[in-house]
Amino acid sequence: MTIPQIAALQLQKQYRQYGPEFPRRLQQNYGDLFRVWMPLLPPIYFALHPDHVYAVLSQPRPPLEKPTFMRRALQSSFGNGLFTSQGDFWRRQRRLMQPAFHHGRITRYAAQMTGHAQKMVNSWQDGQIISIGEAMHELTFAIVMDALFSADEAAANTAVVHQAVRDLGQGLAAFSRSLPLSFLPAWTPLPALRQKRRGERALAQCVQGMIAERRALGEAASPPDLLTTLLFARDEETGDAMSDQQLQDELITLYIAGHDTTAVLLGWAWVLLAQHEPAAATLTAELEQTLNGRPPTTADLPQLPYAQMIVKETLRLYPPAWYLFRQAEVGLTLDGEPIPDGAIIFLMPYTTQRDGRWFAGPNNFQPERWQDGFEKSLPKGAYFPFGLGPRTCIGNGFALMEAQLLLATIAQQFRLEQLTEAKMGDTPTLGFAAPVKVRLHKR
Ligand code: HEM
Repeated sequence: MTIPQIAALQLQKQYRQYGPEFPRRLQQNYGDLFRVWMPLLPPIYFALHPDHVYAVLSQPRPPLEKPTFMRRALQSSFGNGLFTSQGDFWRRQRRLMQPAFHHGRITRYAAQMTGHAQKMVNSWQDGQIISIGEAMHELTFAIVMDALFSADEAAANTAVVHQAVRDLGQGLAAFSRSLPLSFLPAWTPLPALRQKRRGERALAQCVQGMIAERRALGEAASPPDLLTTLLFARDEETGDAMSDQQLQDELITLYIAGHDTTAVLLGWAWVLLAQHEPAAATLTAELEQTLNGRPPTTADLPQLPYAQMIVKETLRLYPPAWYLFRQAEVGLTLDGEPIPDGAIIFLMPYTTQRDGRWFAGPNNFQPERWQDGFEKSLPKGAYFPFGLGPRTCIGNGFALMEAQLLLATIAQQFRLEQLTEAKMGDTPTLGFAAPVKVRLHKR
């Protein structure tokens, strides 16, 4: 079999016309595996079958790395944090940080999560119109600031970080729209790159300040947040701690990776619930029966299976990380075809998770599909909103707990009526193209 090849211009045209839908359109003509030819770039492959996803992401040690040019472009923001590091260095860092994300550890953030959600709900009025995407960003922003740094909205740092992240986010979005931008040196005087640099500098300064304050305070007097946990963590094999620079990189990585994704997930969950009255009614009934008006705790989560199914189904239809990539190494084959060393392989959760071969009625919102062990019956690699294999999302449990707790807290008290259309944007996470307005109805 020869792998179909398409021209870069065709890819760009499809992307402009269809946004995140473009690989599905190409899949109809070219199948599950096709190659894109772009001048001056390494060969690019789109691999859309679950077997491809599993082969690329679950490769035993050493895992395939992220493409060098992408890591370089992202490193000015994320430094050498978990998301961008590789090889033995990544493995050491992952080992050092993993305990901070164990189930027992992250449940300590549950009360903060519901507390912030309740505070937001307290400020809402019956009949008020809000932009749901912005509201969810504010909420997950407050939660991550609290979980990482114990910083509340009143802290001066919070405003600086907010602005820095906005600058950074807009800069990174420009990258995702134009692959060639990633190849330009960081100092190139383009507005998008300048904005990104401004955000990076401000964020780094702010986080450095917080680390220095915490070090001066010492472990015993420090609040039990992720900054303290990581500052005093020791490698179980070597006994080493992280340097301040490494800690800064990891905190910025967690910060960026940990709030936009969850906000995007929740934004879509509200839109889907507003559009599917029976699902919203089933959720409300479950919440009434289990919680009867009190705030949810982590102990309640197993008793809220429908809320969990809503989260899973939303992640299927609108995976916030809608594309992932890896760099091929010698010996990788897909569908029996050797993939050249250094080729870039794109994996698209958005596309694979809407494939009718694995999901009946693939574009329909059906939370019930997740009952009775449906997930276990899927081919490996058919559902991967958090990635797969050794580099799977470290914040997976944190995000799922947060999404379920926030849904439960808010849906008990308000129904959201969608007023404006929700369209997917083309940013690195699958957010809305334009603000989605909703009217709040108090229950
Ligand atoms: C709904 C929410 C989230 C989604 C959909 C999501 C998705 C992902 C995906 C797909 C990856 C793998 C990327 C790849 O293999 O190329 C990833 C990695 C990562 N995520 Fe998440 N994430 C979410 C929330 C979080 C949270 C809450 C945190 C931290 C508090 C976090 C931190 C990270 C980090 C550090 C990595 C890199 C892990 C490594 O390479 O070892 N994420 N995430």
